[in-house]
Amino acid sequence: MDLQNELIKRTTIFNTYWKRYLQLKKPTTLYEASQYLPFAGGKRIRPFLTMISCESVSGDAKNVLPFAAGLELMHNFSLVHDDIMDHSMLRRNLPAVHVKFGEPTAILSGDLLFAKSFEAILSTSVDFSVLKQLQQDFIDCVIAICEGQQLDLEFEKEKTVTEQVYLDMISKKTGALFELSGKGGGLIGGGNPQEVAALKTYGMALGLTFQIWDDYLDMSSNITTLGKDIGNDIRNGKKTLIAVHCLAHATGEEKILLNNIFGNRNASESDVKKVYTLFQELGSVEYAHQRALHYIDQGKNAISVLKSSDAKELLYQLIDYIIQREK
Ligand code: IPE
Ligand code: IPE
Ligand code: MG
Ligand code: MG
Ligand code: MG
Repeated sequence: MDLQNELIKRTTIFNTYWKRYLQLKKPTTLYEASQYLPFAGGKRIRPFLTMISCESVSGDAKNVLPFAAGLELMHNFSLVHDDIMDHSMLRRNLPAVHVKFGEPTAILSGDLLFAKSFEAILSTSVDFSVLKQLQQDFIDCVIAICEGQQLDLEFEKEKTVTEQVYLDMISKKTGALFELSGKGGGLIGGGNPQEVAALKTYGMALGLTFQIWDDYLDMSSNITTLGKDIGNDIRNGKKTLIAVHCLAHATGEEKILLNNIFGNRNASESDVKKVYTLFQELGSVEYAHQRALHYIDQGKNAISVLKSSDAKELLYQLIDYIIQREK
């Protein structure tokens, strides 16, 4: 099983499927703005996770396409609004939606994707009781994203936060959607309660790993590879796990450096680099790496109850890939 090949295969099927939710209508600008990000690429990790979770309980991945479309539409909605909130100018190697279309249309196009995500979820073909459960889970997930995103913003203004509080925040803003990707795939695939619970736990562990690593890439990658602005989290004073660790360990001159640069929107590229170097020197990057490895283990342990299959093998590979990826 080659993860990248299997990802491409399923992404191709998914991309053809979800176009039905992204048709052009009038007013054209609104629909163009809604299509812009979905058609600009994206790794499609959430739909892929939903598909292989379904397959891991012997389900047919075709049956999860509407639900996966709902999750990916919700994800894309969250990115449109996230870029406004984070003052991010670049996404998927293109100007962010609010840069290209202006903030008012970006907000509306996000709202449209939000509505479309519910349309997609509702067209899942399962027994009514399962559909009701999926709907409620989806609603709870969206509420968690809103709560997590608000906490993320509020933490910019805090001097520091604890690791526990950081984990709670990312479990909401990012973990919840991955958790439901795994759980939903298992439910729609007809998994038994133990299998569904395992996929849910795996999804959350993958989500935590994913955000810890996203925070690392924000400072370590380069703009062309990542397709997003570099150093934005440092400029915004985001309480990433790396920053949380560093803020707790910095002393003397190091504290002064952080005071001057961390959270300073106008910090230069070289200033940002200084903070990143401090993060490395104080072992904060390595610490986050170790925590990510811990969640990878947790995710793998959770799915040990699944019977052997190609899909299970892909689940093992996917969670390893989260910290090997360069974007
Ligand atoms: C970015 O998600 C938002 C986070 C939760 C960190 P992805 O890195 O999955 O974004 P795309 O869909 O591949 O662009
Ligand atoms: C985003 O976290 C999580 C969402 C729910 C959108 P980030 O703000 O770190 O995501 P990027 O780095 O902009 O993609
Ligand atoms: Mg954000
Ligand atoms: Mg952001
Ligand atoms: Mg980020």
